[in-house]
Amino acid sequence: MTFRTRVVVAATVAVVLVVLAVATAAYVASRNALLSSVDGSLAATANLALNGNRVLAGGVADLRPQVVLPSGTALIQNGLPVDSTVLAVAQGRESQAFANVAVAGQQYREIVVRLLPGSIVESQLTPYPLPNGGALQLATPITGLDNELGHLELELILFGLGGVALALVLGLIISRAALAPLNELISSVEEVADTTDVTKRLDPGSQDELGTLRRTFNRLLAALEQSRESQRQLVLDAGHELRTPLTSLRTNLEVIRRLDELSPEDRQVLVDDVLTQLEELTTLVADLSELARGDQAPTEAAPFRLDRVVEDAVALATTHGRARGVQLDVACQPSWVMGRRDRVARAVGNLLDNAIKWSPDQGVVEVGCIGGELAVRDHGPGIDPMDLPHIFNRFYRAPGARGRPGSGLGLAIVAQVAEEEGGSVWGGNADGGGALFRLRFPQVRPPAEGDDEDEATED
Ligand SMILES: Nc1ncnc2c1ncn2[C@@H]1O[C@H](COP(=O)(O)OP(=O)(O)O)[C@@H](O)[C@H]1O
Ligand SMILES: [Mg+2]
Repeated sequence: MTFRTRVVVAATVAVVLVVLAVATAAYVASRNALLSSVDGSLAATANLALNGNRVLAGGVADLRPQVVLPSGTALIQNGLPVDSTVLAVAQGRESQAFANVAVAGQQYREIVVRLLPGSIVESQLTPYPLPNGGALQLATPITGLDNELGHLELELILFGLGGVALALVLGLIISRAALAPLNELISSVEEVADTTDVTKRLDPGSQDELGTLRRTFNRLLAALEQSRESQRQLVLDAGHELRTPLTSLRTNLEVIRRLDELSPEDRQVLVDDVLTQLEELTTLVADLSELARGDQAPTEAAPFRLDRVVEDAVALATTHGRARGVQLDVACQPSWVMGRRDRVARAVGNLLDNAIKWSPDQGVVEVGCIGGELAVRDHGPGIDPMDLPHIFNRFYRAPGARGRPGSGLGLAIVAQVAEEEGGSVWGGNADGGGALFRLRFPQVRPPAEGDDEDEATED
């Protein structure tokens, strides 16, 4: 069922319900009004027939009078049924009642009035006393009323059907007009989908819901375009960065062809060179895939203890630092943060690696964490203010870093993790020299005791 059909059907169903309700109300109201006017004249006639304790049953003969004794016996009889309503009045349990009755296929409206004990019925023959009282039944045919109601019914049905038909036609016309902008939007979006041209933008449209949809779609396109562009840039940059180590590897391998011409010392240097280059290539490729993985990391964000992650990263980094006598001085307080633990661990590791790399031999790297924030400070040369705006860019390496191993992706990964995990990162120079990096993640309340144990045994 199309959207348009649904709208039209819904509108028509609503109209049908309203028409039904109105028609029923009109029918019931008219019927009640007609009946109450009949009841009024029945009551007036009954009043005329009762004169003190005398009952002039004969004077209302055209109205089918009938007098019923409390026993249920009809004294003056004319075929009106003596039912429980009549008995209730005759026996004094009710003083008056109205009812619809059928006699010989004809519809009557009847009134039943209580006759008090001691009343005397004046018939054509002899007056008849009612020591125990009784009931006077008067009835008038309501065939006319039924006919009138029948007409009304027909009229209401015809008007109702007309209304529903009109609603259907109007619904079709209005829905076509109302859905035209939607159809237009659908064809614009289809066009974008067919061409997969994310540089296209939809006409922003008006300030209504469809306009909002158009603008939201444009925002989506812009985000898509940007992500496509950055993907393209990453591949281009990666290609460019891979070229240099590949070229020097190739040069070295060409030298290896003439291995027997080299002295044992030169051979050693050459092989070491090749191994270092391979290691750098491996790091580069690993960093690249980490960067490309980004948001797609398979783990879920969860609360974890930042200080534990830092401890683990420090343990790993200490072994790297040992070769050059670099020490890590750690001061951490327990703090819970929210995020993907493996990604955060990676970012922390990158900061520690840089600090150790830039530390002088026998230097000290200070690592502190408190309240969801990690600070890493070294006593190396610090960062040139000229480089500061670029250090978080992909593949950016300060001119002074060219001689050292690295891909230029370490801080880019840190920045990416900070952004994606809802945190922030800051890099600069510390008072008294050396670089200082601050990495912050959203702090959360420690989960219940049980979770704490899970967390503690996780690694
Ligand atoms: N602790 C530090 N001290 C001095 N400079 C740093 C430090 N950390 C990062 N940098 C500068 O930021 C640049 C980018 O760092 P990074 O992205 O980790 O790449 P890489 O470590 O591969 O050079 C480095 O080349 C260096 O110039
Ligand atoms: Mg680095």
